[in-house]
Amino acid sequence: MKWKVTLSDLNFDHRERKIVSQVIRNRWLTMGEMVKKLERNFANFLRVKHAFGVSSGTAALHLALRALDIKPDDEVLVPSLSFVASSNAILYAGAKPIFVDITSLSDLNLSCDDLEKKITRRTKAIMVVHYGGYLADMDRIKKIAKKHNLFVIEDAAHAIGARFKSKMAGGIGHIGCFSFFSNKNMATGEGGMVVTNHDKFAEKMRLLRSHGMTSMTWDRHKGHAYSYDVTELGYNYRMTELNAALGIEQLKKLRSSNRTRRSLTNAYAKNLTGTKGLSIPFLDYPRDSASHLFSILLDKNVDREKFMGFLKREGIQTSIHYPPIHEFSYYRKNLRTNRNRLPLTEHVGRHEVTLPLHPLLKKEDVLFVCDRIKRVIPRATTPP
Ligand SMILES: Cc1ncc(COP(=O)(O)O)c(C=O)c1O
Repeated sequence: MKWKVTLSDLNFDHRERKIVSQVIRNRWLTMGEMVKKLERNFANFLRVKHAFGVSSGTAALHLALRALDIKPDDEVLVPSLSFVASSNAILYAGAKPIFVDITSLSDLNLSCDDLEKKITRRTKAIMVVHYGGYLADMDRIKKIAKKHNLFVIEDAAHAIGARFKSKMAGGIGHIGCFSFFSNKNMATGEGGMVVTNHDKFAEKMRLLRSHGMTSMTWDRHKGHAYSYDVTELGYNYRMTELNAALGIEQLKKLRSSNRTRRSLTNAYAKNLTGTKGLSIPFLDYPRDSASHLFSILLDKNVDREKFMGFLKREGIQTSIHYPPIHEFSYYRKNLRTNRNRLPLTEHVGRHEVTLPLHPLLKKEDVLFVCDRIKRVIPRATTPP
């Protein structure tokens, strides 16, 4: 399919090509100088003490849960309106995801009221997802966590660069997790980062990232170590030098590409506000955003499949964020619980459409998409 306007795109140029060639010339492909440099730069950018490059955002989430010693029978609160990786990581740790509804149709982040209702004596942690890059209400979430003695993990996969007072998304809770998957605000293909200000969790994640080994091949190559012990059952969640090199250049571009995303978001909002048949979440949102996604909600009488099909014929790529996790067959079959009443999440799951948004998109593209939406929406609407 040849799209006129793609959902996302890679903001790559000669700088990414140059640094990747540098890795090839360095003749060292994993967990070397590039990974160390990206970790340092990322920790500085986020103003956190520790940052570890990992093979994916999912690996980051799993490491966070293991570092916090989340065990079988523990419960972790998580929104169902997220990518399935958020709750899969909880299952990898052997724990039970308890799904929390969203706040409203204008704030798609988790509802603090529903969160509080779902806390039991088994609850050990809250996994916050900053949906679409929009910060969840971290003040209130932190208060709830403190009151009930819970850990806070931030799934900040969408929120690289979003600010919270003097802190950044991912640096607010006990541990923050990032994804550098191809469609993210910082893209390295696969890859991610896990960050924390707590030395104890940092040490555990450093070990678990590479099989619980006390020294790395790089240390041995550099003559710092001859052998190693294995002190934990860890994983191969290591980051490659190629991914880290791309990350170094992508991080340099992040501020400016997030600014572009914000300005395109404003252009969409300005042009679509008041359009019959749809509403726009996060308008006048009181907190900051990394503007990762631009979502709209179609009215109940607009047929989403038809609407997306009409846009596809115009060469406009759209997507859905998200089919709710608790409605997936695997989750229905294996995680039956009467606490899964999530009416707002289910509504969004049926009516949300994500429009193209990336730093290479032009204002004219946004105007084109808005124009076509206004043309096709009446054709996808059944009169009441
Ligand atoms: C909200 C959220 N959490 C976690 C992940 C997992 O990241 P990765 O694909 O890098 O494993 C993603 C990635 O798509 C995501 O969108």
